[in-house]
Amino acid sequence: MQQVRAVVAKAKGAPVEVVTINVPDPGPGEAVVRVQACGVCHTDLHYREGGINDDFPFLLGHEAAGIVESVGPDVTEVAPGDFVVLNWRAVCGECRACRRGDLHYCFNTHNATQKMTLEDGTQLSPALGIGAFAEKTLVAAGQCTKVDAEARPAAVGLLGCGVMAGIGAAINTGAVTRGTSVAVIGCGGVGVAAVAGSALAGASPIIAVDIDAKKLVTARRMGATHVVDSSATDPVAEIKRICAETYAGADGADVVIEAVGRPETWKQGFYARDLAGVLVLVGVPTPDMKLPDLPLIDVFGRGGALKSSWYGDCLPTRDFPMLVDLYRQGRLDLDTFVSEEVGLEDVEAAFEKMHHGDVLRSVVIL
Ligand code: APR
Ligand code: ZN
Ligand code: ZN
Repeated sequence: MQQVRAVVAKAKGAPVEVVTINVPDPGPGEAVVRVQACGVCHTDLHYREGGINDDFPFLLGHEAAGIVESVGPDVTEVAPGDFVVLNWRAVCGECRACRRGDLHYCFNTHNATQKMTLEDGTQLSPALGIGAFAEKTLVAAGQCTKVDAEARPAAVGLLGCGVMAGIGAAINTGAVTRGTSVAVIGCGGVGVAAVAGSALAGASPIIAVDIDAKKLVTARRMGATHVVDSSATDPVAEIKRICAETYAGADGADVVIEAVGRPETWKQGFYARDLAGVLVLVGVPTPDMKLPDLPLIDVFGRGGALKSSWYGDCLPTRDFPMLVDLYRQGRLDLDTFVSEEVGLEDVEAAFEKMHHGDVLRSVVIL
């Protein structure tokens, strides 16, 4: 057992605190990771607001990279000294989804080892089963994916959640490839990552839509060929116009990625698709939201597919090393997602900036 500093949400809605926690030695199938960088994600804020469940105190942080310090018995995935990106879904390999080959739909994940405690022995709930706003964290070895050790921790750690969700929504769920016309609605960290993933795949045009003009500047830098300020322009008509300009007869985009998580933007995406186009929902709706009221005949008439994208439908062992290599080759700009590097004590201020849309990601450096 060892003691480290960590960011904990002790009570619903209360500001997070930096405290000392106890990290046990790794047991069978577990690893202790010395965290080097961890991004601040909306889900951390949702936990601290009690929006996920009431299992306070939470140990926050889940977009992380670091070095494996020690491993428990029977661990073969990683070894001490490996540079790893953490994921929040160590798949079981045995459920129906795993056996069918859809490992990203494994809901039998054994990520939360839940053995870390406050100094007084109070049980911590590691948010999303990681808890990486900590100098060291105890995880399942299957949550560690070894990647190129030369990569910048702050940048590649973001593959652990939001950036992977966006890139994966495009290349995995949307199956975007060269020549695919893509529209991305909502260009925060997740949407901009979807733009970057589409660009990587050779999509064209790539139309970025947001109500906040400054988000569109970043989207363009990350590969958007067109931008639409939907606070001023009807995005559906504009997406259809741009697609028809590129591909005669097109009635919208082949793939629309919704990265806001609201019924009205989902509806825009529904109608902005070309006939038989794909709509991918990657923005996370709140539980009270309902499908927009649509004539069923429009669902029938447009065909195509209405999908959702879970963690970018990623397989960490396949996707993380590949994306880190593309980053190292200069073909995927992960550095732009790092708006600022901050300390453990700055997480609360980072929530505030996120709330105001001032950053793609604040990243805690340890
Ligand atoms: N039309 C277009 N864009 C919108 C609209 C709208 N009606 N409403 C909000 N947006 C834009 C915001 O301006 C912002 O740029 O959507 C973007 C949302 O980005 P962030 O708040 O930075 O969120 P992000 O981290 O990208 O996550 C997007 O996925 O993980 C979930 O909880 C997360 O639901 C959120 C979504
Ligand atoms: Zn499984
Ligand atoms: Zn996240």
